[in-house]
Formats: sequence, structure tokens, C-alpha cells
Amino acid sequence: MPDSTSVNTMFARIARHYDLANRLLSGGADGWWRRRLVAAVLDAHPRTILDLATGSGDVAFALARRLPPEVEIIGMDFCRPMLEEAEAKKRRAGGYANVSFRPGDGLGLPLGDASVDAVTIAFGLRNMADRPRALREMRRVLRRPHGRIFVLEFSQPSRCFRPLYYLYLRRLLPRLAGIITGDRAAYEYLGQTIGEFPDRAGLCAELCANGFSGVKAAGMTFGIVSLHTAAV
Ligand SMILES: C[S@@+](CC[C@H](N)C(=O)[O-])C[C@H]1O[C@@H](n2cnc3c(N)ncnc32)[C@H](O)[C@@H]1O
Repeated sequence: MPDSTSVNTMFARIARHYDLANRLLSGGADGWWRRRLVAAVLDAHPRTILDLATGSGDVAFALARRLPPEVEIIGMDFCRPMLEEAEAKKRRAGGYANVSFRPGDGLGLPLGDASVDAVTIAFGLRNMADRPRALREMRRVLRRPHGRIFVLEFSQPSRCFRPLYYLYLRRLLPRLAGIITGDRAAYEYLGQTIGEFPDRAGLCAELCANGFSGVKAAGMTFGIVSLHTAAV
């Protein structure tokens, strides 16, 4: 698993170009993946949501657009430059009074036990230096018995699509990303962490091993991304 300091500095380096790179490198699919996450959260009717590893805040904003304005949404991340991007987007858009951004480490959340109804984490779990500890922290802050976790993350695609996908991820994507962000190494890291991340069944097992129940998983876009949901 990656170490926290290098993850933090790497995201600080790419923060300014992060959104543009996401749009271009995913061919716009990242917006659709986040909308699927938001649709799943809507069904749970939460009053307070923690969007962990919020980055530039896209999930927090997407949640705010679909949920009633009295729902409190906390976007949390340990990388200051990413949070600054999120704050700048909030200022430019105006509104989003129910969305706040706070610094915080997923390995030791600055939140009380049983203090939120839902935790969302999009493309963040893969970057946590200690995944079991991060999952236990998310479970700790969820209210019982209705608390839910929603994990949107890269996964292992279907076998027939895998060779083409890894060719794109390991050869083409770092070059393109190097041009867009000026930081090819950050996107070589992306390919490496995706290759090392568990497949859908593996992540289901990790969620169960760390205390979650009722785990469900759905694949998207040939299985390159998955949405896992689970209860406390
Ligand atoms: C790939 S970005 C995802 C951002 C956003 N959720 C999205 O959907 O675009 C991963 C984020 O995880 C954050 N992160 C990684 N490890 C973290 C930790 N231990 N605590 C808090 N944030 C962390 C990084 O700073 C980065 O902003």
C-alpha cells in the first residue's frame, strides 16, 4: 500500500490540473461514475454525509445538487492544495451552503463515534496507506443501525478487456497525463495502484473482514470501476 507522505505530496503537485486530467483521461466517464454513486446514496436518505478523500470536491458538490439543502455534507481530505481547489470551486459556483470542507486523515478521522449517516469515498480508498484501518475508521464514525458506506473505486476489469486496459493505463495514460499535468510519475503511480487493488470479490471480503455487513458490489464500464455499498 502507498505511504501517506508521498501520496499527500503527489496530490499536492497535481491538484491544479486534477479535474481537467480526470475529464480527459476518463473520456468524461468519471462524471457518470460519480452520478451512479450519488444515486445509490439518495436511496439511503442520509442527514449527514462524510465525503472522505474528497479531493477537489466533485462528489460533495454532486451530492449537494441532488439531496435536500438541509443535508449536511462534509468533504474531508488530508491534502491542503486539493481542499483549496474544492473551496475555490465552491466560491466560484456560489451557494452550496450545506457543503463544508475540512482537513482530516482517513487513518484517524477527526470526527466522533457514530456521527454521520453515510460515508462516501471515490477513488480514495486505493490511496490509503492502511486500508483496513481506514475502513475501521469509516465504520466507527457511522451511526447505527442505518449507517452506510459507499466506495467508488477502480477495480479489475473483465478478463477479455484487461490486456487493452492495462496497455492504456501503463503506456498511454502516463504520457498523456504528463502532457496535461506536467507530472507523468503521478499517473505511473495510478497504474501501479490500480494493478495492486483487489477485484470486486476481494474488496467485498475486506469490507466484511472490517466489520461491514450486507456488502453489495456493481461493476461499471467493463468492470474497470466498481461501486461497493455496505452497512455498519
Ligand atoms: C484520486 S483523489 C479522489 C478525489 C475525489 N474523491 C474524486 O472523486 O475525484 C484521492 C484523494 O485521496 C486523498 N487521500 C489519500 N489518502 C488520504 C488519507 N489518508 N486521508 C485523507 N485523504 C486522503 C488524496 O489527498 C486525494 O485528494
